[in-house]
Amino acid sequence: MVACDQTPAWAALQQHWATDIQSLDLGEAFAEDGGRLAALSQQAPWVFADLSKNLIRPATEVLLRQLAGERGVPAWRDAMFAGECVNTSEDRAAMHWLLRTPADGGLLAASPIAQRWSASVRAALAEVHATLESMLALAEQVRRDSAITDVVHIGIGGSHLGPEVVVQALEDWHDAGKCLHFVSNVDGHELGHVLRRVRAESTLFIVASKSFGTAETMLNAHSARTWFLAQGGSTDATQPLSIARHFVALTTQVDAAARFGITRTLGFWDWVGGRYSLWSAIGLPIAIAIGAERFRALLQGAHAMDAHFLIAPDAANLPLRLGLLDVWYRNFAHAPSRCIAPYSHGLRRLTAYLQQLEMESNGKQVTRAGEPLMVPTAPIVWGEPGTNGQHAFFQMLHQGQELIPVEFVALRHGGKYLAQHHESLVVNAIAQAQALMLGRGGAAPERRCPGNRPSTFLLLEQLDPASLGALIALYEHRVFVSGAVWGINSFDQWGVELGKQLAGDLQSRQESGQWWGVDASTRGLMQRLLGE
Ligand code: F6P
Repeated sequence: MVACDQTPAWAALQQHWATDIQSLDLGEAFAEDGGRLAALSQQAPWVFADLSKNLIRPATEVLLRQLAGERGVPAWRDAMFAGECVNTSEDRAAMHWLLRTPADGGLLAASPIAQRWSASVRAALAEVHATLESMLALAEQVRRDSAITDVVHIGIGGSHLGPEVVVQALEDWHDAGKCLHFVSNVDGHELGHVLRRVRAESTLFIVASKSFGTAETMLNAHSARTWFLAQGGSTDATQPLSIARHFVALTTQVDAAARFGITRTLGFWDWVGGRYSLWSAIGLPIAIAIGAERFRALLQGAHAMDAHFLIAPDAANLPLRLGLLDVWYRNFAHAPSRCIAPYSHGLRRLTAYLQQLEMESNGKQVTRAGEPLMVPTAPIVWGEPGTNGQHAFFQMLHQGQELIPVEFVALRHGGKYLAQHHESLVVNAIAQAQALMLGRGGAAPERRCPGNRPSTFLLLEQLDPASLGALIALYEHRVFVSGAVWGINSFDQWGVELGKQLAGDLQSRQESGQWWGVDASTRGLMQRLLGE
């Protein structure tokens, strides 16, 4: 496949930016085109998107769709949903979509892609549902167990961020009366803070790790085990205060969990990427917090977005539109980052989740074929909930010199607390988007805001399981789209291996005292931080 920047559409988009968009005045664009909002907004499953404040014209999306076609995006999408190998460097499928597909295929069953499902994909679907039922049964057992008051989820990266963002976002839907704790950092303060607040006899520890080998998770799990035994816990499964009863593992490595002494293990598969795994057994804390029925609703929302991505026509395909917009800003507007501004306390960890999803998927420099990429890929994703961001970095968004697209996520219904606050929250989000677009003139230069600053507005009816499932699936698929345009494998993460390996090397050198060949800075820092 030719490089993405060698395609006809790429050249046309460069020309389009220079001649039609660089001088676009968004305020005038609305005055000129009464149909702009209708043409550049749409309803997708559970999510409404207003794209009309973006630096685009309808013609822009036509060219972006042409680029998607030239880059084979539809074919790669179909291959993913057919269960074929799209994770080329690990020779795996990427079937997180299967985790939320009903046993009969649901909305995908009627699509031609389902006809491409091999026997192994169909067998995997059956396994998915068997594991889902086991996971939900365990969750319901924990929810009914009045002796368990606290659940400590130990995991990091995709084994942590997904469950955490969903458990927090669905706080209004928690009904088990359990206190959920998340421990991810290897910094002992995090685990120590939790252990000081729980009692061994009333705590369930969940050890979540796809590999069951991640150093931070293993150290936290072993320390929790040591603490538990010191509290009178036993390795004897017949004892009430036993590892068997108070520890559960979520992993693809069942044997490793058994060697740790955990006998209750929920498994999942190597075709589930870590950052795409909350829908699998990794979602156990979610199911404990909200129950089986609502966990199924989470899956249903994501499934509806899957079907939308697979079946909706390109011009009304929201994951495609957003993924192509990401390419537009990254490669044609040369914007190095994207700001996420969720106007919802419940979505306060959404940005952290999206940082892994987007930057670990697409922060790469070679194509699937191992050729160097001559264009930048994933934007730096950052942000904080609104309205807090308005008192931190919105100054730069309004008057800084960088073009930074902003993504607002807001809720039409704000949940059950302090309803009168909701109007203020939403009005602020809308006003910020308007201010970014219109800017402000004026005599004093320091008071001027240039305006024409783009934003996308995503709107959910409310923060319920189905809406959240659809929103997260929307982000998963948009990342896939931009990755496919760039020609990269969005499903591996070889870049994280070197740091892990060097950390192990430094720890063994610290023990052996052998520092030959280590640079002076690293050696000096180790001496200052860990020396006698
Ligand atoms: O960050 C690297 C990574 O491998 C992520 O991809 C993954 O989500 C995380 O570490 C945790 O991995 P595991 O679930 O295997 O412990």
